[in-house]
Amino acid sequence: MRVLIVGSGGREHALAWAIASSPLLVKLFVAPGNPGTATLAENVPIGALDVAALVAFARAQKIDLVVPGPEAPLVAGLADAMAVAGIRCCGPSAAAAQLEGSKAFAKEICDAAGIPTAAWERFDDAAAALDFVARRGAPIVVKADGLAAGKGVVVAQTEADANAAIHAMMRAHEMGDAGASVVIEACLEGDEVSLFALCDGTDAVLIGAAQDHKRLGDGDTGPNTGGMGAVSPPAGFDAAAQAQAMDMFVRPALAELARREMMFRGILFAGLMLTESGPKLIEYNVRFGDPEAQTLLPRLRTDLLTSLLAACDGELKHISIEQAPLAAVSVVLAARGYPVAYEKGSVIGGLEAAAAVPHAAVFHAGTDIKNGLVVANGGRVLTVCGTGPDLTAARTAAYRAVEAVTWEDKMFRTDIGLRALARTQLS
Ligand SMILES: Nc1ncnc2c1ncn2[C@@H]1O[C@H](COP(=O)(O)OP(=O)(O)O)[C@@H](O)[C@H]1O
Ligand SMILES: [Mg+2]
Repeated sequence: MRVLIVGSGGREHALAWAIASSPLLVKLFVAPGNPGTATLAENVPIGALDVAALVAFARAQKIDLVVPGPEAPLVAGLADAMAVAGIRCCGPSAAAAQLEGSKAFAKEICDAAGIPTAAWERFDDAAAALDFVARRGAPIVVKADGLAAGKGVVVAQTEADANAAIHAMMRAHEMGDAGASVVIEACLEGDEVSLFALCDGTDAVLIGAAQDHKRLGDGDTGPNTGGMGAVSPPAGFDAAAQAQAMDMFVRPALAELARREMMFRGILFAGLMLTESGPKLIEYNVRFGDPEAQTLLPRLRTDLLTSLLAACDGELKHISIEQAPLAAVSVVLAARGYPVAYEKGSVIGGLEAAAAVPHAAVFHAGTDIKNGLVVANGGRVLTVCGTGPDLTAARTAAYRAVEAVTWEDKMFRTDIGLRALARTQLS
């Protein structure tokens, strides 16, 4: 098999790492990749959003399978273009990717399929949105309809905050077209977990569940980030709950999409809130999370490439995906100043020592090579994943590897997994 992974983050390094170990693999490319993927695959200088160039490359290189990492190429039609070229792509069509590309579309699918989610309304008009907030009061959640790179949601504790969000999105156009329409929904309370399923249009198999840590600081303080760490399995969401969630949030969505002649192929990520009245859908994503991929893939026992091919060929009913009975903890190493203005160019050492820590894996994201040395070149720079028979062991492995990385701008949370550990000990 000749495989092309699309993307350049830690998630894509983890995908490359998992696929590189497949007995089916003949040749692996990553476009555009990073210095981590370069150790496992051939990096190709094509941007993840350059659909035409990706198709031309896949044709020329006789690629058997394209594995998209991020959502934007899917929303832009990568899977459709590959389908036209007769090349398998383990991701949804642009139409089905609207599950992530439009919050209102996802909500419509939920309502049509009876999937529990917060009560909502969609607005294309700011005055109507403001009026709705005045009638409903706070707390209330305002969401830009379109893709906003994780910056399109305001959980407003006051009406003034909700009004400000509506102004920013709909009148000041701060999110461009993404904020031209908004979804306003009821505010839910509970722990958040993420469920990952591999789908072939009609069938779905569970890959695993994780809980991410979005805030910058220990104790879930500070600004939101792309994710500072993740833990799997999440406390309070056991195998039975995960299986039930597959029936509540994944299979009905696939069926509703199929009814609309949109076959959902690829990774479906259901973001759930575990409320007092049961789990509710917060959002769908149409790809792996980052750093959830780095957390879940090291635990897979089933060959990932075989599974992705089965999804593309509509044969998931013949396979199951086995996870090792291990806990996994991922810690993101970010550059000082992230997520605002961060340092670039500082040299990162100790990567071999970190990778040599037993039961730890190091994934690159924002790195570059300068004069033969690995240097920081982004906000989230590395992800370290530790695995072990329990959360304590997984944390120990992860933080040993974190400590082995020598880098003056290194910044990381010290508490990834502690909350889950406290929950586990209570129950
Ligand atoms: N209805 C809701 N009630 C409470 N919190 C919410 C609600 N919807 C979203 N959130 C919070 O906002 C975060 C971001 O919302 P989400 O829909 O996942 O958007 P995105 O990931 O695209 O930014 C969620 O992870 C959750 O913490
Ligand atoms: Mg989200």
